[in-house]
Amino acid sequence: MADHNSMMKQWQFTRSGKPRDILTITEIPIPTTCPDDELLIKISYVSLNSAILHRLMAYRGVFDPVGAFRSRPSVPEKDFSGIVCDLRGANVKGFNTGDRVFGMGPTAFREIGRGVLCEYALIKQDSLVKVPDNISMKDAACFPVAGFTAYCFLIEKAQLKKGDKVFINGGSGAVGVMVIQLARTIVGPTGLVVATCTAAKSDAIRNLGADEIIDYTAHDLPAFLREHYSSRPFDAIFDTVGSDHILYSSSPAYLTPEGLFCAIGLVDFGSTVWAGTKRILQLLSAMMVPVYLGGVPRRYIFEPLKVSHVRMLAMAKLVEDKAFKAVIDSTYKFDNVLDAYDRLVSRQVIGKVVIEVNADHD
Ligand SMILES: NC(=O)c1ccc[n+]([C@@H]2O[C@H](COP(=O)([O-])OP(=O)(O)OC[C@H]3O[C@@H](n4cnc5c(N)ncnc54)[C@H](OP(=O)(O)O)[C@@H]3O)[C@@H](O)[C@H]2O)c1
Repeated sequence: MADHNSMMKQWQFTRSGKPRDILTITEIPIPTTCPDDELLIKISYVSLNSAILHRLMAYRGVFDPVGAFRSRPSVPEKDFSGIVCDLRGANVKGFNTGDRVFGMGPTAFREIGRGVLCEYALIKQDSLVKVPDNISMKDAACFPVAGFTAYCFLIEKAQLKKGDKVFINGGSGAVGVMVIQLARTIVGPTGLVVATCTAAKSDAIRNLGADEIIDYTAHDLPAFLREHYSSRPFDAIFDTVGSDHILYSSSPAYLTPEGLFCAIGLVDFGSTVWAGTKRILQLLSAMMVPVYLGGVPRRYIFEPLKVSHVRMLAMAKLVEDKAFKAVIDSTYKFDNVLDAYDRLVSRQVIGKVVIEVNADHD
């Protein structure tokens, strides 16, 4: 590790591409000044997000809508756990030096590139909370984006309740494993939790609380759902994949009339401008075309993360209460980040790939 009195290491990139081709490790000075509402955090663990991987690799050399706005050089990743340092902004309240915290790096569009894959990072106070005493720093790094997303969609948006029936598309991913566990906790033994994943991952997903598993590679998913679930339709659908509009347009066959379709997975905009335009039009139609103009007669919600301290505290309470637990696929040292991204690219991952940056406080 770099000399923590003055210099720190960070992974960074300046163009789109595969992580192994574009990420480099470099040394820069540790920040010595701090915006009013931010704190300097000594990072303990970072967990990787496949959405960030997709963004890194998107539109290579063609059209990089994200890259047009990001700061350069850019640091990837959002999820971290870490320790509060002495450097804190004038408006920061409720945090002391040495506090164990977890949270997210900047989420605003204009701040893309101010990531946390580094030894020290400046973080907004609203985007972090204290790590519950019963949770390790390594586990804590797995929750911020995925646990927060599960909290927002299942509890705030869908308002799931005991006995509900839910379908989760993409059950083995970082968000999916949180959604399955939280759904199981909320709907209880009288509810139904159905999830998709590839066959090799089905035992792990069942152990997290899914009652029924669908191997999406072996079936036409909308047709399968229509055949098997129209007589016991779902109260909510959580699509963490976001790849296929047909899942929503066919949903009246397997989602109750009052049910909610939650499009969690950020739309895969494809690798061409045409594919991206088509997906944007589908998304807009799902959100805006009313039923009398031919829209799908089911409620649809697509929302990016809106981080607030109150919501972060609510997520942290779920973590403390073990409403869901961290699912760690594998752990890599900070210097071996490229191997970690190779693992993420392999699509064999269940849950989270974690980077150990500084394990002193675990
Ligand atoms: N709206 C928000 O606020 C918000 C917040 C966080 C994340 N997200 C989005 O949520 C999505 C999921 O994130 P993540 O971190 O969970 O990703 P992830 O870890 O890569 O998981 C995605 C999962 O989707 C499954 N999958 C891939 N293709 C599929 C298909 N055609 N049908 C069914 N399942 C398929 C994969 O399972 P198998 O390996 O079994 O194929 C994989 O486990 C991303 O698009 C991310 O941008 C949105």
